[in-house]
Amino acid sequence: IRVLFATSEVYPLVKTGGLADVSASLPEALCRLEYDVQILLPGYPDALKAARKAGSRRKSRFQIGQYSVSLWQTRLPGTAVTLWLVDCPPLFDRPGDPYRNDEGKDWWDNAHRFALFARVGAMMATGDAGVTWKPDLVHCNDWQTGLIPVFMESCQDRPGTVFTIHNLAYQGIFSHETFRALGLPDSLWRLDQLEFYGQLSFIKGGLVFSDRITTVSPGYAREIQTPEFGCGLDGLLRHRQAALTGILNGIDTRVWNPGEDPELAFHYGREHLKNKAQCQALLQQELGLKVNGGPLLGFIGRLVEQKGVDWLIAVMPELLEKGCQFVILGSGETRYEEPLKLLARQWPEQMSLTLGYDEGLSHRITGGCDLFLMPSRFEPCGLNQMYSLRYGTVPVVHGVGGLSDTVNDPQDVGIDRANGFRFGEASAPALLGAVNRALEYFRQRKQWRRLQQNGMATDYSWKRRALNYGDLYRNILKERQHQPQ
Ligand code: ADP
Ligand code: GLC
Repeated sequence: IRVLFATSEVYPLVKTGGLADVSASLPEALCRLEYDVQILLPGYPDALKAARKAGSRRKSRFQIGQYSVSLWQTRLPGTAVTLWLVDCPPLFDRPGDPYRNDEGKDWWDNAHRFALFARVGAMMATGDAGVTWKPDLVHCNDWQTGLIPVFMESCQDRPGTVFTIHNLAYQGIFSHETFRALGLPDSLWRLDQLEFYGQLSFIKGGLVFSDRITTVSPGYAREIQTPEFGCGLDGLLRHRQAALTGILNGIDTRVWNPGEDPELAFHYGREHLKNKAQCQALLQQELGLKVNGGPLLGFIGRLVEQKGVDWLIAVMPELLEKGCQFVILGSGETRYEEPLKLLARQWPEQMSLTLGYDEGLSHRITGGCDLFLMPSRFEPCGLNQMYSLRYGTVPVVHGVGGLSDTVNDPQDVGIDRANGFRFGEASAPALLGAVNRALEYFRQRKQWRRLQQNGMATDYSWKRRALNYGDLYRNILKERQHQPQ
């Protein structure tokens, strides 16, 4: 089965979050299962640079409206996966973040950028992009790819389509003028098509026009059908319930492996956890914290409302008073960065704050902490809790979405099956309660070890999980064969 996997970010070329990790590791896992999955990515400067360095070539060139577009064929660095780059300098030759300018503002022409990307995706899918490879299926990811199924809709003999929701909160909403400027047919301006409360919604393209919809955990698949988590689209998702499934993300267990992680000076595993303490001591030294045996609590992520950073900030003073240490790595909104900076100034020996993006440090934090905090308000899947579990770092999470699908609390399942701590109520006191419970376990070494080892014993790899996508692909193709075209 040939699959075109369209995405707006992919590790290690361009990454703002978990989408990049999944866009690299899922196609790779599927390729290992003998699926011919090829990735389509906008031609960002770093990606094109890597392609040129690898000696890759332009495979075709064509015109879309005013834009001259070329397609480059290369490989995703470090893998055998084919990567196609949509080269259109006026739209994609911009350094840094794929969606925003230096001031953190969305590029004014994002709708044009990702509409063109989608056009090219649709052209490749229908064999109109001047390349010989043609997919049986297109796998779209998040709003940036939402128009691909729309552009393919009227094609005879089109490939099957899957749309994966990585985060329903980002929808690609633009004005009616933009809808017109994109030259989309008026017939699409309807509530059951692309219109969303008087605006254009890219994500609705994916949700309405795809053969199947998936999201990145079974828990989130249920939640998004409710008004609380549905971001205004729960009605549509309930309507498409039969086409919607949740498939839990996997992780790249080669990139995230405490047994041989090049970012760690000491390596360890489930049966020999001793070196983890050394990783912690080094991390404390690196960040100027007192080397004291913990408890060291970590947080890595985008500093945005989704991640519950305000609850974290609210509980930190009490935990710092108690002697806990914190390591925080992230970047995002000023309203969260400022109070964190203040705490870091007030507690120099106990709190380290790194504002920015640092892949290496994120590995050392994952390896060196005792607890990892993810108090997300909602979390479609979440990768950091799985990275932590694999590194014997016990997660404390809000029981939502993929977090509740991966973290089991001793209160619910007993110590023999538990791997972390979960709180139910969406509030700072509930987070504090769960951290305090975790700290009680932390003081009892044997129980703590049990939690760590339970986490480390679980298989979080794509091996099994990718099979679910394989089954889905085959089902779509089977259904389409039986459908009158
Ligand atoms: P989301 O996609 O919502 O941001 P995930 O948990 O799925 O959340 O994935 C986040 C990914 O981004 C993880 O790989 C995490 O380690 C990484 N990450 C987030 N912020 C940073 C940062 N400041 N430095 C390094 N890695 C980060
Ligand atoms: C999104 C979600 C996150 C998920 C990631 C990869 O960014 O916020 O929960 O893990 O996509 O699917």
